[in-house]
Amino acid sequence: MSVLHTIYFSAKGTTKTCAAYIGQHLGLETRTYDWLRCPCSDTLEISGKDVLLLAMPVYGGYIPHICTEMMGYLRGEQTPAILAAVYGNRHYDNALLQMKDILIRQGFVVIAAGAFLAQHSIFPSVAAQRPDEKDRAVMAEFAATCKDLLAGRDEEGWDEITLPGTAGYDASFFRGVPFRPGGDRTCISCGACAAICPCHAIDPANPRETDQNLCMSCGACIAACPAGARNYHGAAYKAAGLVFSQKCAAYRTPELFYAGKKEEK
Ligand SMILES: Cc1cc2nc3c(=O)[nH]c(=O)nc-3n(C[C@H](O)[C@H](O)[C@H](O)COP(=O)(O)O)c2cc1C
Repeated sequence: MSVLHTIYFSAKGTTKTCAAYIGQHLGLETRTYDWLRCPCSDTLEISGKDVLLLAMPVYGGYIPHICTEMMGYLRGEQTPAILAAVYGNRHYDNALLQMKDILIRQGFVVIAAGAFLAQHSIFPSVAAQRPDEKDRAVMAEFAATCKDLLAGRDEEGWDEITLPGTAGYDASFFRGVPFRPGGDRTCISCGACAAICPCHAIDPANPRETDQNLCMSCGACIAACPAGARNYHGAAYKAAGLVFSQKCAAYRTPELFYAGKKEEK
């Protein structure tokens, strides 16, 4: 019996929700890896008999740079992989292609990939209710098709999957967004933000300040704050939110991609 290895990085929880929903519908014994709380720092071998479900949020059209580094620890044995890119209603750009390219180098075969919608973690009025009921139905359908693909694994194998994106993309092109969360006067100095920050950008001795150079704006500290004292602030943030919410108002729908099965030669 295959084991499903579900890996996700989820600062504000929507990527985790999508990973859990897809995983649940795959119906396999599952091992879960939370790369926010337990960053991967050692080789992680995933047997060719098992399955990888990799769910990542989209940051600037790519996956978070710290996850690119962690993916370098993955080792597959032509292990089938299912990808989920979770994005906030702008676009996922090169994120799925980037995940595929890295996984191929690490010994995996990408058999299916989906781009799914979620509330935007910096501008929460964008895609506020996502994933919604329709998204959940698509995720269930996606998982069902993945199950069918996996059922044929011993017979034929899979063709290389074709995913959208720009050939020759440069992931270092994304230098982050200019908004960093900070604490306000309701901060109780509990240190929860400093403990969760994946970039070590918050000094527990002075948690209201954020190191502007280290922070990647993921918002994990906002989600972790028990006092609701942290958020993105400032006139530029508010102005950008207005423009962004108008630009990204249209309801986007998930996109699914599958590897065709290899034909008998
Ligand atoms: C730094 C940063 C950059 C982002 N860039 C994009 C983007 O390029 N396209 C998009 O549609 N959403 C973007 N988002 C929104 C996230 O992709 C979306 O909210 C994601 O689901 C957050 O996952 P989480 O809830 O698991 O943290 C960005 C969010 C952050 C924090």
